Parts: sequence; structure tokens; C-alpha cells
Amino acid sequence: MDLKKLRVNGQRLRNAMEEMAKIGATPRGGVQRLALSDEDKKARDLFVRWLEQINLECTTDEMGNIFGRRPGKNADLLPVMSGSHIDSQPRGGRFDGILGVMGALEALRTIHEHGVETERPIVIVDWTNEEGSRFAPAMVGSGVWAGKLDRDWVYGRTDVLGKRFGEELRRIGYQGKLPARRWPVHAYYEYHIEQGPILEKEGKTIGVPKGIVCLHWYDVYLEGTANQVGPTPMEGRNDALCAAAEMILNVNALPAKMGGNMVATVGEIQNEPNSRNIIPDRVHFTVDIRSWNDDLALRAWEDVKRDFEAIAKARGCLIRIEETWRVGHAPFDERLVKRVLDVAEALGFPSHPMVSGAGHDASYMSQIAPTAMIFVPSIGGRSHVEVENTNWDDCEAGANVLLHCLLRSALERAESV
Ligand code: HGY
Ligand code: MN
Ligand code: MN
Repeated sequence: MDLKKLRVNGQRLRNAMEEMAKIGATPRGGVQRLALSDEDKKARDLFVRWLEQINLECTTDEMGNIFGRRPGKNADLLPVMSGSHIDSQPRGGRFDGILGVMGALEALRTIHEHGVETERPIVIVDWTNEEGSRFAPAMVGSGVWAGKLDRDWVYGRTDVLGKRFGEELRRIGYQGKLPARRWPVHAYYEYHIEQGPILEKEGKTIGVPKGIVCLHWYDVYLEGTANQVGPTPMEGRNDALCAAAEMILNVNALPAKMGGNMVATVGEIQNEPNSRNIIPDRVHFTVDIRSWNDDLALRAWEDVKRDFEAIAKARGCLIRIEETWRVGHAPFDERLVKRVLDVAEALGFPSHPMVSGAGHDASYMSQIAPTAMIFVPSIGGRSHVEVENTNWDDCEAGANVLLHCLLRSALERAESV
């Protein structure tokens, strides 16, 4: 058959996405499938059933990463891999991550039903805890597998209720026996929603990132003095929440102060005892700094850390800082990026080169294998929210680009992509 004419089944992709969106569905049309939660387990179980339906060889490693492998003609050739993540943000969207897993599944379903024989094996993957929301940091499944994060350190990470990653992984039955240890990959493609406004503004269907920004995550712990809000004079208070408030505004002012292309955000905070008539004495908040320029991000952190220490001192609060996680900016493989552009053109989809401001498992994969991503537009540029949405024609278009990138790479004999 003329493989150039092969296309995915858009309705089947939509059905799979809608089936998955029922798992952890939230009242306003989003999903909540936090990593290693019961909802994550349910979606994983369904995913494995679907892999088995097309006779893929399924394995789960000690990080809970799920792999489905389709043999090629030549088992000695390095495999082509594609996947993303099934876990979501709290009150997250129905497309983030899952579109890349269902898109890869749809490509494999299409290859399977047409009996296409590829030179190389093709492997689909669901990476554990890409979001890093319940258990920080993000991308730990791919990070350990790529040899960039320590498994036992990740196992010991806890959520806000003190539950440990390793115990939760065992509880949902996804701590596989297989070591989470990388093997050589010929090419890795990750299909994902853009999660930003550019494609919609440019009127383009396919986004082709040249890479992903660096992500630097920090945790700040403040300790003040609790007291009754009424009798305690304002003078001399050690109000941890006021100290945090000043620090948070400094984080927000960082990009303008440092110049360059950067974002800086405080997204999570816990305040104790969190009672309206007690002066807060314990606050934890997170800092997320991202830039294509790793040094700029580092300098920004050093700058704001000095501010934090001065503010804590002025307000009589103790401060403890955890430099939790950093993943460098991730330039993708130029030849694979060009392949995505060429395939989009061959299929008649307008494309747009860009940089990914969102982190993805491709951040780690690009450190160990030729890697590229395929984006489709996010309506209104919204993501990590229940209104996250992408129209089904674009979902189908992206899956077709993924299908043909996979085929081109899986039909290659030589090891150069
Ligand atoms: O943080 C991110 O960009 C991704 O959602 N983990
Ligand atoms: Mn994602
Ligand atoms: Mn996300």
C-alpha cells in the first residue's frame, strides 16, 4: 500500500480521548488525575488494555513508566519511541499529556490495522508524574529512566499529606520489576497541545518547537511568631505571611528586572495555622523560573534569593530554602525538527516554528536521544485549566503528523535519523 496515503482515524482518536476524559472528570469539563492517584491507576489500567488489544508487548518499570512495543522487521535496529503523560494537574485540562499518549496509540492502531511492517520497532510510552504537581518535581518518570534523577530520591518525595511517592506507586500496583534504566532510542517524538496563544494567533495548525526552556524549581519555608491578632501590636510582629507576600511580589518583578525572555511564578503556598485570628508563623511557597537562557534563570534566582534573605531578616522570620530541581533548556534534534516541518508540509498543514514554554518529558529525552515535538493549538491559549480545549480537526492533524514522522523514522535502516 502507498504509506503516504495512510491516515489516522480521527473519530477513534476522539473516542479514546473522551473515554479517558471520563476518568477524573471535574464538574466544569476538566480532569483531575493526579499522579499515582486512583484516577491515574484507572486510566493506566485502560491504557494497558488498549495496548494489549493491538498485541503490543507491555512492560512497566520501577518508576511506573508503561511501555508498549511493536516489533519491526529487524529487531537489531534501535526503536522509535513516542509518548507523553496520563497524569494531570488538579482541576486540569482534558488534553494536556493524554493527547500525546492517545495520539501515539492512534498511530499504532492505524499501523496495526493496515498491517504495516516497519524496519524498526516502535515503542509507545506513558511517563509517570510528568506534572510534578502532587509530587514535586516534574518529569520524574522520564528523568529517572534517562538517568538524570535518582530513583530512591524520587521514591522519598512526599505530597502535602505526607504520602510518599514510592508507597503510592506500590499502592496503585504500578511499581514494575523492570529497572527504570534507559536503552538506546533511534528517535523520540512527543505530540502535545501548545498550552499557549501563539498557534491560534498565527492561524497555524502545527507547532514545531526547536526545544523547551529550562525549568528551575525552588521551595521556600518561613518561620515567624504566631500570636493573637487582637492584642499583639503591629510593631515587632514576625508575620510569616507578610514576609512571603513581599517575596512573592519580588518573584513577579524578576523578569522585568533581569530583562531577557523569562517567566517567574509562585504557584503554590501553604500558610499555617491559617486561622483568621492568628498571626501566621509558618509559610511554604514554591518558585518556578523558566528561560531559554539557563544562566539568566540562575542569575535571577541568586538575585531574588538575596531579597528573600533581607526581607526575612527585616521581618524577624527564619528562612529555609530548598533548591529542589533544575532541568536545563532542551534544544531538539535539528534533523528531526526539520522532519516534523517537512511532514506537516507534505500533509498540507500550515506550521510554525517556536519554543516550548511548558516542560515535557522531551526535556529529558532530548538529552539522551534525537527528539522533536509536535504541537497543536490551544483554544484561547489556555491550559492547566478546566476550559483547556483543542478542536478535534487539529487533534487529528497532529496525530497524522505524528504517524508519518514515526513511519519515516521507523522505515529508516541507517542509524542516522
Ligand atoms: O510545568 C510544566 O510545564 C509541565 O506541565 N510539567
Ligand atoms: Mn504536559
Ligand atoms: Mn502540564
